[in-house]
Amino acid sequence: MQIGRKIIRLDSVDSTNNYIANLLKEGILEDGTVILADEQYAGRGQRNVEWLANPGENLTFSFFLRNVNLSVQNQFYLTCIVSISLVRLLNKFGLNAKIKWPNDIYIDQKKIAGVLIENQLSSLTVKSSIVGIGLNINQIEFNGMSATSVLKETGAQKLPMDVLYSYIELFNSNWSQFSEHMLPEIKSVYLSNLFQLNELKKYEDEGGIFEGKITDVLDSGHLIVDRAGIQKKYELKEISFKL
Ligand code: BTN
Repeated sequence: MQIGRKIIRLDSVDSTNNYIANLLKEGILEDGTVILADEQYAGRGQRNVEWLANPGENLTFSFFLRNVNLSVQNQFYLTCIVSISLVRLLNKFGLNAKIKWPNDIYIDQKKIAGVLIENQLSSLTVKSSIVGIGLNINQIEFNGMSATSVLKETGAQKLPMDVLYSYIELFNSNWSQFSEHMLPEIKSVYLSNLFQLNELKKYEDEGGIFEGKITDVLDSGHLIVDRAGIQKKYELKEISFKL
């Protein structure tokens, strides 16, 4: 199962994830189809936030994986492969990128890419997935947001389309090697690229701001934070990073 045999480029769309979801409903979506848009007018991020990107300057795309066949308890591994492929892509540009749990990509303290994965489940299995990626390429101004782009970090402009082809190649190579017996190895690559792993930093949960150290991420995708010697387990909406 490879992505990118079919690539559809749109001038403008609400959200490339929505576009794929609609094609899926209509039953006319080939496995591995990639949809990219020069402009999204209602781009979506995690935690119901908007994804804003200047038209034509960045990569905003989604792809469809028809036969994911991962058990729900291992669905986090797709997140790992998508994010590790982004880190490797940015490494190729000479950048030291990190994965901010669960799947934001950071350069130092600034976000360069975000991922929104929407899975279609059937009983306890992930049947198919819509993977949406926003990667800042040539944008310079982020209106005070703590964000960056490939151009800001390297000084070099890139054609978003060329970057997309490189990502497709990396993802296909990582995804084609994927099997359940590789889970420990994938997890260790994910952890070795994890932002703030084993560093004492500030976080916020329902009890307020505290200092802690990320020590692990479980197969279920939960984050483990050591807080004064006690290991606490968090879901996405339960903790935020205080950067
Ligand atoms: C996040 O960081 O919160 C996730 C951002 C994901 C943005 C991408 S852009 C392409 C795709 N279409 C969307 O509406 N969202 C994703």
